[in-house]
Amino acid sequence: MKYEKNKQFIGKMFDEISPTYDKLNHLLSGYQDNRWRKSAVKYLQFLQHEYPFILDLASGSGDLGAEFLKLKPQKIFSADLSLEMLKIDRQKLPEDINYPVKAEAEHLPFKTGYFDLCGIGFGVRNFENLDSCIIEICRVLKPGGRFVTIEMFKPAKSGLTNRSFRLYFEKILPKIGNTLSSSNFAYDYLFESVDNFITVQSYENLLQKNGFKILRSKNNFLGIVNTVFAEKM
Ligand SMILES: C[S@@+](CC[C@H](N)C(=O)[O-])C[C@H]1O[C@@H](n2cnc3c(N)ncnc32)[C@H](O)[C@@H]1O
Repeated sequence: MKYEKNKQFIGKMFDEISPTYDKLNHLLSGYQDNRWRKSAVKYLQFLQHEYPFILDLASGSGDLGAEFLKLKPQKIFSADLSLEMLKIDRQKLPEDINYPVKAEAEHLPFKTGYFDLCGIGFGVRNFENLDSCIIEICRVLKPGGRFVTIEMFKPAKSGLTNRSFRLYFEKILPKIGNTLSSSNFAYDYLFESVDNFITVQSYENLLQKNGFKILRSKNNFLGIVNTVFAEKM
């Protein structure tokens, strides 16, 4: 199947792989994905900001939202294209503070200046129109609100050329992932979506162009998995 970034296609793909998504995330990342989420939340705590209203965008099955509970929010909105992923999210977060919403990052159904924090874990790479999503995120944040992105970016200097990692990521991971999730494409899509994505530097430029100040950028793994902390100016 040809790689394409299209909301209908992406939503359907995540609906299909939702039953095995969590297990495969942990397995295929060598159990590092939760460590990256935890360390992002630790830094948000270190910033000593208040986070009563949080948006977990492209929330998927809710692992980042579950970490955000440590920030003691009043409300966490989980927003995603995939209803099946949102159903799993609902099981992980307390009903009285969690508001799952089926929504597109390109058109957020929230008031301007409502949120203190927006977090996106492994989501921005999938957005059909990244520029308009960043503009929307900036709109729904309060001035001074924080925006954290954990993502797999295209490495700056050499692309995905670490030979052993590329062999794993392009050839081995898709075979295991597709087989265990019974998908014929989702884990090929994962490789393609990183290989076709922008570098973390370009992403930071995009944030700066659209009303954010970069607070910190952390390389978690080979310059591919990075966490970017930003503040709405
Ligand atoms: C790789 S999963 C990440 C899930 C979760 N945030 C995590 O940390 O594991 C990406 C999620 O982004 C969602 N997504 C992709 N494009 C989107 C868009 N334009 N608007 C909202 N959600 C989107 C998908 O449905 C999927 O659940």
